[in-house]
Amino acid sequence: MMNEDVSKVLIDEEVIVRRVGTVAEKILLDFTGEEILVVGILKGALVFMADLCRRLPVPLQIETLNVASYHGGTQSSGVVEFLDGKSLDVAGRQVLLIDDILDTGRTLRAVKDSLLEMGARKVKTAVLLSKVKERAEEVNADYVGFEIGDEFVVGYGLDYQGRYRNLPYVGVLKEEVYETKG
Ligand code: XMP
Repeated sequence: MMNEDVSKVLIDEEVIVRRVGTVAEKILLDFTGEEILVVGILKGALVFMADLCRRLPVPLQIETLNVASYHGGTQSSGVVEFLDGKSLDVAGRQVLLIDDILDTGRTLRAVKDSLLEMGARKVKTAVLLSKVKERAEEVNADYVGFEIGDEFVVGYGLDYQGRYRNLPYVGVLKEEVYETKG
């Protein structure tokens, strides 16, 4: 079972549910008027985006972007690659950009800049988690679910080698998981 690979639960399910509701309320105060374009960064943002959107009872559209910076390990490669070269129709729109976690900040910075270059009128960023550390890039998220320490976490959309995204909580894996599956 997946749970057996987890050494500690950092943020449990009920706490996440409550916090997602609070974050949604803040977003609703900032996004008024025309429709919101929600852009989720695959695949990590999927779970957070799905829950958050259901707490935003306003007209919105959902798009996803495929970028890579991690390549399966636990360390950032430092390069953000746009994988499907998809051009989103963002001109003049108010965008809510969603990711699972702010780590070095490179992903969010690169994607936010691209959306603005593509003509988005406004881009606000939401992350479930933000690691408290020095950022390689000057970037902070507008909405943060939880601040966490600088350790590798999985669950609620976050993976290790493609797995554990479906854990309903955020947790830390046992050392031996990295040794045997790393
Ligand atoms: P940067 O460094 O660009 O990283 O802010 C953001 C992306 O890196 C991945 N990431 C993690 N994934 N556990 C994960 O499963 C982690 O602790 C972690 N830290 C960073 C994630 O894909 C995120 O979108």
